[in-house]
Amino acid sequence: MKAAVLRETKQPLTLEEVTIDDPKPGEVLVRTGATGVCHSDLHYMLGAYPHPLPTILGHESAGMVEQAGEGVTTVKAGDRVVLSFVPSCGNCERCVEGRPVLCLRTRRGERPDKLTQGEASINQFAGMSAFAEMQLVQESACIPLPDGVPMESACLVGCSVMTGFGAVVNTAQMEPGSTVAVIGLGGVGLNIVQSAALAGASRIFAVDIAEDKLQAARQFGATDTIDASQDDPVDTLKKATKRITGGGVDYAFEAIGLAKTAEQAFAMARRGGAAVIVGMVPVGERISVPAAQFLTEKRILGSFYGSARQAKDMPKLLQLYQQDKIKIDEMITNRYSLDQINEAYDDLQKGAMLRGVLTFEN
Ligand code: APR
Ligand code: ZN
Ligand code: ZN
Repeated sequence: MKAAVLRETKQPLTLEEVTIDDPKPGEVLVRTGATGVCHSDLHYMLGAYPHPLPTILGHESAGMVEQAGEGVTTVKAGDRVVLSFVPSCGNCERCVEGRPVLCLRTRRGERPDKLTQGEASINQFAGMSAFAEMQLVQESACIPLPDGVPMESACLVGCSVMTGFGAVVNTAQMEPGSTVAVIGLGGVGLNIVQSAALAGASRIFAVDIAEDKLQAARQFGATDTIDASQDDPVDTLKKATKRITGGGVDYAFEAIGLAKTAEQAFAMARRGGAAVIVGMVPVGERISVPAAQFLTEKRILGSFYGSARQAKDMPKLLQLYQQDKIKIDEMITNRYSLDQINEAYDDLQKGAMLRGVLTFEN
């Protein structure tokens, strides 16, 4: 099968013929339908997050089951599925308490003969490796897809939609009427905006440095926009909220992955409010906050994959999409073939998309 391989960081991905194994017990072989162009993969391409190389990235995906391994009961060949990049065991302490993204026994890519080229093994990424025509995943990573949801829309539920919705509903547990700020309006940030709107936020301040992203945020439910390339985002937000909260918002979400904007999120939280860090700040970097402000009961919340409970959250998100309560199609501005993947990531870095999607011929 064809796959885009990362052999060296900061180098283009190379399109190669790779062999994928048959499913072992508990595993499912999936034919890729569509895969999203998410910024998280870029962090690995640039080396901001380490991963053993060579690897095949890609973690926002949907496809069709080609073959189910022995013992698999929840999906069968021909089923259409969304894939979760955090398979979970269902039985460990974290799974049982309802936090499967922290599963203690998650099995991601630990089998070295899943992806190979001749004798050489290629490391699986995120238990998926979705920049490829086929993927070999754990059964728990497969969420059945209702009829009528196109692959390209479904794939976004596998990362940006889940991450954004979950950050609001699961991590922050935002109450209706809350005031919110969202810094960074890419695929993840726009989903935070629309989920906060759906969950009844009274004000949503959307912050970005690109005019077209600010405009898009209004369509996704932002009530106010702040152009951080023109105005100081913290001062502007604090002034605008002075009369509502005394200055600052109930929840400030960071959706870029920069230490500086994570610090801005903390500064934007009101007394007793919370900064929710969704973006992936590069490994080794630190953020610095004025510690005396902990006396105001401000909090910093880490959020991974929107604290997803995938088996519960993803079917609901697909229903909300089918009921036109969340926008997904409107987010997809760019489409590429797998062969055009390097172009897709150049475009992402230029900010030339809301969300891009790789579509596969099936
Ligand atoms: N201030 C405000 N906005 C900024 C700034 C800044 N200093 N720098 C960049 N941005 C904006 C960009 O203009 C862009 O709209 O942040 C947005 C980032 O969007 P994408 O590149 O599309 O990233 P996305 O895929 O949404 O991921 C965002 O979430 O899951 C994580 O790893 C992911 O860290 C990444 C973050
Ligand atoms: Zn992602
Ligand atoms: Zn578990």
